[in-house]
Order: sequence, then structure tokens, then C-alpha cells
Amino acid sequence: MKITVLGAAGGIGQALSLLLKMKLPAGFKLALYDVAPVTPGIAVDLSHIPTDVVVKGYAGDDLPKALDGSNVVVICAGIARKPGMDRSDLFKFNATVIQNLVSAGAAICPNACFCIITNPVNSMVPVAAEVLKKAGVYNPQKLFGVTMLDVIRAETFVANSQGRAAGTIRVNVIGGHSGKTILPVMSQVGGFEFTDEEAAQLVRHIQDAGTEVVEAKAGNGSATLAMAAAAYRFVNAVVRGLMGEDNVVECAYVEGGSQHSRFFSQPMRLGKEGWYKVLPYGPLTQAERDTLEAMLPTLRDEIRLGEDFVLKPEQFQTASEKKAEK
Ligand SMILES: NC(=O)c1ccc[n+]([C@@H]2O[C@H](COP(=O)([O-])OP(=O)(O)OC[C@H]3O[C@@H](n4cnc5c(N)ncnc54)[C@H](O)[C@@H]3O)[C@@H](O)[C@H]2O)c1
Repeated sequence: MKITVLGAAGGIGQALSLLLKMKLPAGFKLALYDVAPVTPGIAVDLSHIPTDVVVKGYAGDDLPKALDGSNVVVICAGIARKPGMDRSDLFKFNATVIQNLVSAGAAICPNACFCIITNPVNSMVPVAAEVLKKAGVYNPQKLFGVTMLDVIRAETFVANSQGRAAGTIRVNVIGGHSGKTILPVMSQVGGFEFTDEEAAQLVRHIQDAGTEVVEAKAGNGSATLAMAAAAYRFVNAVVRGLMGEDNVVECAYVEGGSQHSRFFSQPMRLGKEGWYKVLPYGPLTQAERDTLEAMLPTLRDEIRLGEDFVLKPEQFQTASEKKAEK
């Protein structure tokens, strides 16, 4: 089996590549691609680690070689928001990156599972879906937005608050992957009864955790290491499913027939063809239902933004482009 990491020279890409090189089963191939010319060198560096995972690095025009024969394509290429950058400028830059990389994937490895980490995930997954659709190879069961960072944060914060050992708690996080669209389902966390106030405090911490990291890094980047750990857990789950393991369940943002929005994050069973069954997340409390209702307009707008980028490109203008035109 072959895993390809696109954006492999970045903060997330390098840490994720290290985890994959160290933990993938023997015999796997790992291909790293980034526009940064250092990427073949990152692969040489990793290749000195004594595991039976063969790693190769590509840059520049060699994207097709990185994608050739790939079973799982993980995309963490793009930019994080920088001071002074408008949200729509970030969206346009990253949407263009996703469009180009997924177009290449559609042509070279159309049957691969595509896992999108690049932000804003709520909009990048619809961009990828429309690109795959245009190419005639869209399989909703093989396109995932990686929302696992919210899950691992929820599991860590709940364990810490309850004095439980890390790694012993599972929390489903539903909705999307930005601010208020992140909804950890605290009422369904086994073994605990949270008061509404305790639950609300944990939810706020999980929703604001990205900002906490950006501030702690004093503006010099966003979450990379915990994100890489989260991405490894998710990619490993996809791989276990592809290899035929039973009962692999994780949350991801997919087009899974949700009543709430075209794309929605919730738990699902992973198998030989990607996800094959979206699972219920249990009854919500009134407070959780209110949060869900309140997030839906934002989530649907972010989805439409991604769809329109591909379907109506002539209508798409960033705030700074509009300003420049005046
Ligand atoms: N899903 C999540 O939970 C989550 C969490 C944190 C960050 N992110 C997002 O992940 C992305 C990457 O974050 P990072 O901190 O690793 O950023 P980074 O700037 O360190 O790395 C991004 C890499 O992408 C590469 N790149 C840019 N355009 C490319 C292209 N066309 N083809 C191939 N490579 C390209 C860059 O050269 C760079 O090495 C950002 O969009 C960030 O917002 C997502």
C-alpha cells in the first residue's frame, strides 16, 4: 500500500511523515511531495530510520510520481492565516492549492482515499468534491475532511478535567472544523455526568484550542504536532479499514447523507472502500441541539463557498481583489 503526503515539508507534513515512517506496517511505501525543494532531502533523512517503510521525496514537477499508485493521499499543503491576511485571501490561496492537487490526484490515482487537512476544512472538502466530480471520479466514501484534532483535544481536555488517564476516553465531535461549527457531544461521553456549565466550558476550550496554540506560539504558526498525531490516528484508521480490519470507527467530515448539511462530521465505520456506514451520535441535550441549530447557517455558507469556487469561478473575488478594482 502507498501513502502520499502533499505539503510534506511543512510543520504538519514533516511531523506526520515521521510518524508514518515509524509506525506504518512493513512493506508500505511513503511518498512525500511539496513545492519546497527540500522535500527529497526530508525523505533521505527519514530513510535512515530503521523501519521497512520505503520513503521517497519529490518536489517541483514530480507531483505525478508522488501520486502514482497511491492508495491514500493526505493533503496538508497550503498556508495558515497570517497577520493582515483577509480570510477570503487565505481561502482563495488554499482553494487553488486543493484544486490543483486534487485534479492531479483525480487523473493519476482516482481510486485513492483523499484526506484533507488544509484549512478551512469546511470549505476545502467541497472544493475537492467538486473537482473530483468534474473529473468524473467522485466517490463520497473516499473523501474525508480531517477533523480528528478536535477529537483528540476533546479527549485530552475531558480526561484532564475528570482526573482520568489520557487515552481512556472517546468523544465524538460533530459538525465542522471551525469555531462554533465544532460540537463535541459531551452528553454521550461514557461514564460522566457533566453539568451544563461544565460541558459548556469544555466545549469553549475545544473550540478555542486552535487560537490558544497560535497565541502561545506568538503568531509564529498554528497547531502542527498535535495535528500530526491526530492525522496519523486518522490515516492509520483509514489504512486499517482498507486492509480489511473490522469495526474501525472514527469521526470525519464527509458527504454522508446528513440531514443537517451536505458535508457533516460524525462517527463512521471505515472499511475496504473508505467509510461505509455513518453512525448515529446519540440523542443530544437541548443545549447541544441549540448549538447545532445555531452553527448550521455558518456551516452551509462555508460549504457553498467551496462549491462556488469550482462551479462559478467567474463570480469569485476576494476582499482584496474587490478593493483593488475600486
Ligand atoms: N485540519 C486541521 O485540524 C488543521 C490543524 C492545523 C492546521 N491546519 C491547516 O493545515 C495547513 C498546513 O499547516 P502547516 O502548519 O503545516 O503549514 P506550513 O506552512 O508549515 O506548511 C504548508 C506546506 O505546504 C506547502 N505547499 C504550499 N503550496 C503547495 C502546493 N501547491 N503543493 C504542495 N505543497 C504546497 C508549503 O511549501 C509548505 O511546506 C494549513 O492550511 C493549516 O491551516 C489544519
